[in-house]
Amino acid sequence: MGSLEGRVAVLVGGGGGIGVACAAAFAKQGAKVVVADIDQRLADDAAGAVVQAGGEGFGVRVDALEEGSIDALVDDAIRRYGRLDIMHNLTSTTVLSPSVDLTTEQFERVLRTTVVAQFAGARAAARHMISAGSGGSVINMSSIGGHGGMPKRAAYTASAAAIVNLTRTLAVEWAEHGIRVNAIAPSWILTDALRNYDKQYPGVLDFDALQARIPAGRFGLPEEVADVAVFLASDASRFVTGVTLPVDGGVLSYVGPARSLSQPQAGPPDKSEPLGRTDR
Ligand SMILES: NC(=O)c1ccc[n+]([C@@H]2O[C@H](COP(=O)([O-])OP(=O)(O)OC[C@H]3O[C@@H](n4cnc5c(N)ncnc54)[C@H](O)[C@@H]3O)[C@@H](O)[C@H]2O)c1
Repeated sequence: MGSLEGRVAVLVGGGGGIGVACAAAFAKQGAKVVVADIDQRLADDAAGAVVQAGGEGFGVRVDALEEGSIDALVDDAIRRYGRLDIMHNLTSTTVLSPSVDLTTEQFERVLRTTVVAQFAGARAAARHMISAGSGGSVINMSSIGGHGGMPKRAAYTASAAAIVNLTRTLAVEWAEHGIRVNAIAPSWILTDALRNYDKQYPGVLDFDALQARIPAGRFGLPEEVADVAVFLASDASRFVTGVTLPVDGGVLSYVGPARSLSQPQAGPPDKSEPLGRTDR
């Protein structure tokens, strides 16, 4: 029996690489899974991954920033599956720009898509969980960028840091209702978004230099984030709330020089495909 047997999970912004892996992992553990994304095709693909994992669920187009949209999504999930136990908020976007050129509109768009939308997801879940008296688990997505500076990512890093403290505040406010609120802070995870980064922002990331900053010696895999999401969703973490858990191969613990690329890699073999052009 899976650790999420009989539970119902909703993922908002779940159509990205990490969302798909989490949706499939929740399904493998026995949960029914609803995946919402602003992009209908991505939501449907993620729902396909749920079915492929042997689970049941559906995908739906939702703009998390539309007032009331996630409350309606929660109602929909309850109508279909009778309960809500897990709300996983994954919406985010970024703008790469020198801070002196970053417009207020761009800054606000990142902040709204990340912090405001994730808050809306948490709030909709808590409204239901409190009135149902059922408790539950809310999982937000931060980043290692919420714990330190990254040039040209002022809006993203400010948003990721805001998620850390939003998570603490909601956790202490809703603890009396049996609702746990935690977040995950990944480092660089090998999703299609990272693979295609070079096309979107040519020459900005030197992938070898990045990997040399990771004590584990490699990028993370979406499934490695999903395993932690399952832990936070399940009773195995029943006394854990208010934390932001790094899933980062040791990045946040490391202040030494970049490791030598000739060192053997730790952990499972890197499943990476060639990552495109680097700065070397
Ligand atoms: N991939 C990484 O390396 C990495 C690293 C650190 C943190 N994270 C965080 O993990 C989370 C998931 O990562 P990912 O790589 O799958 O990201 P992603 O950008 O691919 O996924 C985010 C999803 O949110 C959706 N979205 C955006 N605005 C929305 C809205 N208004 N309403 C509904 N959906 C909306 C997008 O369509 C997208 O599918 C994000 O919060 C990201 O910031 C990822």
